Amino acid sequence: MPRQIRLLPPQLIDQIAAGEVVERPASVVKELVENALDAGATRIEVDAEQGGAKLLRVRDDGHGIARDELVLALSRHATSKVASLEELERVGTLGFRGEALPSIASVSRLSLTSHAAGADAGWRLEGGASDAVPAAHPRGTTVEVRDLFYNTPARRKFLRAEKTEFDHIEQTVRRLALARFDVAFALRHNRREAFVAEPAPERASQERRLAALLGPGFVEHCVHLEHEAAGLRLSGWVGLPAFARAQADLQFFYVNGRMVRDRLVTHAVRAAFQDVLHHGRHPAYVLYLAIDPLLVDVNVHPAKHEVRFREGRLVHDFLFRTLHQVLAQPLPQAQATAAPAVARDPVPGAVPPPDQRGLGLAVAESAFAYRAALDWQAPASPASAASAGELPPLGFALAQLHGVYVLAQSAEGLIVVDMHAAHERVTYERLKAAQATRGIASQPLLVPVTLAVSRREADLAEEEGELLFRLGLAVDRLGPETLVVRAVPVLLQGVDAERLLRDVLADLATHGTSTRVGEALNGVLATMACHGAVRANRRLTLDEMNALLRDIERTERSGQCNHGRPTWTRLGLAELDRLFLRGR
Ligand SMILES: Nc1ncnc2c1ncn2[C@@H]1O[C@H](COP(=O)(O)OP(=O)(O)O)[C@@H](O)[C@H]1O
Ligand SMILES: [Mg+2]
Repeated sequence: MPRQIRLLPPQLIDQIAAGEVVERPASVVKELVENALDAGATRIEVDAEQGGAKLLRVRDDGHGIARDELVLALSRHATSKVASLEELERVGTLGFRGEALPSIASVSRLSLTSHAAGADAGWRLEGGASDAVPAAHPRGTTVEVRDLFYNTPARRKFLRAEKTEFDHIEQTVRRLALARFDVAFALRHNRREAFVAEPAPERASQERRLAALLGPGFVEHCVHLEHEAAGLRLSGWVGLPAFARAQADLQFFYVNGRMVRDRLVTHAVRAAFQDVLHHGRHPAYVLYLAIDPLLVDVNVHPAKHEVRFREGRLVHDFLFRTLHQVLAQPLPQAQATAAPAVARDPVPGAVPPPDQRGLGLAVAESAFAYRAALDWQAPASPASAASAGELPPLGFALAQLHGVYVLAQSAEGLIVVDMHAAHERVTYERLKAAQATRGIASQPLLVPVTLAVSRREADLAEEEGELLFRLGLAVDRLGPETLVVRAVPVLLQGVDAERLLRDVLADLATHGTSTRVGEALNGVLATMACHGAVRANRRLTLDEMNALLRDIERTERSGQCNHGRPTWTRLGLAELDRLFLRGR
């Protein structure tokens, strides 16, 4: 016999809703702090005890709740924030569902104390009571949540260790504190301060807040950006590729002040980093998107972690283009002005080793010269530049160190360049630019190079002859298992043609015909650039070194090699002075 259909009792309805909104203590904190922000608070204090399981208290100095609305605030679907569908569609507050307080009250012992703006006293309402009692409270609101899940034992059992729950709370408050630099935040656990953040109206103090909340590494290796187009505005900070991380744990994206985890956003950011990030590494960023509220639906999920953009393509393109351009700057400002990523002090989560293909054969190095390969222009001599009164950003070469590094003197101190990595990036960018515009120019070999290959490779070379030609390689089939290379790209003059062709064929075999597009084709160009880049232990003249420095300065993305490692770094005079304890 089926049971009779009945309406659920109100308390149970709230508890079911709580299942969606209140996953753990940190979710309570999120809801309460968002309410405080919606109330216009300028200072928010969060106290937790025993990981929030015993007590959570959020106190604000916002506009408060009037005495006769306290009961309503704890009722289901009661909100002061929206009154119609029209308002819902352009909602600017963080809350709007009128669910949080009743849900939390149904699974805890909650009290609400508030002193409304304009009222002459404060009032307290205990959850479950129907009357408020007078209570001393400055203007603003305090919500206390005790014994979370005391009446839902199954959920209480899922609470983790005190420290774990507090870590989640801390992460939540951190996210909110990054959303609102104009508001002061304080967080305490078991009465001990976890962090305090004072209002940060301008960029310097904002970056101090970033450093306090995310660690100093991020701020030292990031670029600030601000860009507006097509009614969209993106601002914030992106970590330089060299600061990429093993985990996706430093990614904060806000849409109109609300932190979201969104597939479209993640995809656009990844795509922008695609060419400068080592496979498997994750970019770090704190970004703010401002968009007309009508163009974004925040009512997708009860906890509002997700959003839906009405014009997804537009948003995707805007994010991709903006970030791509920022990352393409040849001398990202963080490297040019802030403390450098010095090799002695490697970025946390060591960067994987570079691709070493071809690096072993320094002895068999051909007569390749850096200058010839880069249609290099007359060197600006140190003297002539000095008379012009200015050093170029990377200065002038002093010497080569152990056949690996180029040392240069700049206005700020010493520049150290990884010559292979830097030249590889410069070559790669040139190949990409050439391929995208006029095509990669090739130069006939004086002596064509014949090589024995498998039948499969010979077939492939024949099928992809046109593509190879576009890549600047003229290849003919001489027999079932014999190929001949007749020309190589001018940009790679002096390259080992046989090894180059073998690697390119291997790339083509892996990626198949899809190599005609984007990412895969770039992979082939990267392989070619690696072959063309100056090898370790090749002695460069000062002119060649200076030409490389100038090329780095004018090449996009030249701050990182094709594998995401930095290509150069700077040891400032102040830092050198510190090393020698000068001026103390
Ligand atoms: N800290 C606060 N300061 C002022 N008003 C508050 C505060 N917290 C809650 N309120 C009031 O209580 C109502 C219900 O809160 P809540 O259940 O979180 O729903 P919502 O935030 O979706 O409106 C809010 O609409 C607001 O009017
Ligand atoms: Mg709310």
